[in-house]
Amino acid sequence: MVNIPIPFPNPNRPFLFSFSPFSEAEKPRLMSFEDGGPMMATAVHTFLDFPLKNRDFQHDREQPRNNRMTYQEALELMHEYTQSDALRKHMYAVETAMRAYAKKYGEDEEKWAVVGVLHDFDYEKYPNPPDHPGKGSEILAQKGYPDDVRRAILGHADYMNVPRDTKLAQALYACDELCGFITAVSVIRPNKIADLEVSSVKKKLKDKGFARNVNREDIQRGVQELGVPLEEHIQFCIDAMRTDAARLGLV
Ligand SMILES: [Fe+2]
Ligand SMILES: [Fe+2]
Repeated sequence: MVNIPIPFPNPNRPFLFSFSPFSEAEKPRLMSFEDGGPMMATAVHTFLDFPLKNRDFQHDREQPRNNRMTYQEALELMHEYTQSDALRKHMYAVETAMRAYAKKYGEDEEKWAVVGVLHDFDYEKYPNPPDHPGKGSEILAQKGYPDDVRRAILGHADYMNVPRDTKLAQALYACDELCGFITAVSVIRPNKIADLEVSSVKKKLKDKGFARNVNREDIQRGVQELGVPLEEHIQFCIDAMRTDAARLGLV
């Protein structure tokens, strides 16, 4: 959230307006204002020279003040945008790992699950960087998703240059590539994830020919930022995914 005093209409008594963070991927968006009504909001948007559609403003007003979104809403949004079964399962896997980390750190499990289940929701429609996850973030902003959720999702793509400065963002980054890799290792095993061990995952990580699209450096960077040893993180994600194996197609 960026707070900007707007010298309008009286420079001696500026109103304080709050905007969503500015990034290359999106235009600033009015989040709240201290004073004034719809007329004032429209005037300020004109002042800043970016358009405000009436219905967007109405939409903003309908959001609760802490604009909290439920997991069910997030899941429906993801299903609306993503038809690929594999991509859906990838997001379920990251959701499951995020839930487990939220519990471990005593954080808001529903919020962490929302981040996990939505992080690639725009990928099928907008696969090219920076559309993914930039377009998705714009859609989430229109729907009133909070800044920390959107920033964590933007942060999972290094090229967006949004710092991973929250545990939420760090956990998403650490879980994203590794959950994809654990799935790739599991699907070719007779018992899938049921008897998967950390050593098998580490062995496959060293095998450069296996699951080449999974960037090993991203996995290393992820655990460093989250501040957990690699082995521990792998075990943690396996344990979490095992509890949800049926939904992830790993039984
Ligand atoms: Fe992604
Ligand atoms: Fe992902």
